[in-house]
Amino acid sequence: MSGEALIAQRGPYEVDVVAGQDYFWCRCGRSQQQPFCDGSHKGTGLFPLKFHAQVSETLYLCGCKRSHSPPCCDGTHNELND
Ligand code: FES
Ligand code: FES
Repeated sequence: MSGEALIAQRGPYEVDVVAGQDYFWCRCGRSQQQPFCDGSHKGTGLFPLKFHAQVSETLYLCGCKRSHSPPCCDGTHNELND
């Protein structure tokens, strides 16, 4: 089973990240722990996007999984019509 990313939410998740920590953003949309990977991508051919927080800050992580600047929301969710 390979798949397209599902839309987890039609808008970003506000997340406070901590400097020095690694995060795994869910790219497939199937995680039950959005916006992060919980391993549910298994079998889809999709994998999480790992990123490293350089500073502690609030990020807006893409929930629609269609952002052109993952893992962050770039407003693409406003163009979804399916
Ligand atoms: Fe995906 Fe905004 S939530 S681009
Ligand atoms: Fe979606 Fe891992 S659960 S990328």
